[in-house]
Amino acid sequence: MSCSSSSSSSPFVFICFLILFYLSPTSLSKTTNKTAKTQLSVDYYAKSCPQLEQLVGSVTSQQFKETPVSAAATIRLFFHDCFVDGCDGSILISTVPGSKVLAEKDAVDNKDLRKEGFESITKAKALVESKCPGAVSCADILAIAARDFVHLAGGPYYQVKKGRWDGKLSMASRVPSNLPHSNYTIDQLIKLFNTKGLTIEELVVLSGAHTIGFAHCEQFVSRLYDYHGTKQPDPALDPRLLKALRMSCPQSGGNTDIVAPFDVTTPFLFDHTYYANLEAKLGLLASDQHLFLDPRTKTLVQELGKDKQKFFQAFAIAMDKMGSIGVKRGTRHGEKRKDCSVHM
Ligand code: HEM
Repeated sequence: MSCSSSSSSSPFVFICFLILFYLSPTSLSKTTNKTAKTQLSVDYYAKSCPQLEQLVGSVTSQQFKETPVSAAATIRLFFHDCFVDGCDGSILISTVPGSKVLAEKDAVDNKDLRKEGFESITKAKALVESKCPGAVSCADILAIAARDFVHLAGGPYYQVKKGRWDGKLSMASRVPSNLPHSNYTIDQLIKLFNTKGLTIEELVVLSGAHTIGFAHCEQFVSRLYDYHGTKQPDPALDPRLLKALRMSCPQSGGNTDIVAPFDVTTPFLFDHTYYANLEAKLGLLASDQHLFLDPRTKTLVQELGKDKQKFFQAFAIAMDKMGSIGVKRGTRHGEKRKDCSVHM
């Protein structure tokens, strides 16, 4: 199998692999379906912008045709928005020129957010503003666009609840402690997700977003040569994948633009192969592979690896719950920006 970036403008260099993987039969357990208490509603814009979903949809489908990487980029953007002080569009704000206070998007942890994600939202917002001026928040447009891209990439379609206002604050200093890192232990991941009101099951389910997209060598290179100071690679990494990754990612001095697909078999398809890959030691990040290694999460990984519908259903519910983190309402804490990159 070979693959390539369909985004001619992308600065990323994609690595493609020929990998065989095996699915093993697994047992079933129950996913938690808790929904968060929010004031959001599906028909929030029924009067003020009834055609909102079609407007955003026309942009996302065009964007997906032209640059398929926009899907992974926008889904990740939504995650990074929600985890840092709530789903309030604050990830979209640019640092004020000359200001010493950097905005979230300029934090080190956000440096690899692709421009295609921001572009999708900018285009959708411009179209929405032309038809429904001043009515719709950037945060809601991001939530809708993320759902559209999940579906366009082959994943589930679900209703998006709306009514988020845009946050007035965006500070890079808020980012590091609120986002997970690729070298996090399972305990750290569980703890962080818990602070966002998300369960251990939702950690496993939302990590399934890594069924599409790519990661830079720096995010996993420690697994290839000197895992935890052992001078050995991570034993939980398949030897064929190890070999392929080593060819593209030297221990030091490599091209920093090189990326590898999370899902070596179907990197552009939103499916449940991510979980089967974990069982086959084909997880790219240590944090992904931990989900199969830890007894608290392994059963659910096995279950989702063999049941696409169950994954899709659980993912839709978990995205809805993630989308309700730290929602802001009203002018005291919120605003509706005309330009998503500029705080009014
Ligand atoms: C569980 C903890 C998580 C960790 C440690 C993590 C970490 C990462 C890292 C390191 C990258 C690669 C960045 C790069 O090198 O360019 C990445 C990419 C990505 N993440 Fe996560 N992530 C996590 C959870 C999530 C969640 C919950 C979602 C969405 C629901 C998500 C969606 C994505 C997507 C779609 C990409 C690919 C982006 C692209 O190709 O442009 N991640 N993540």
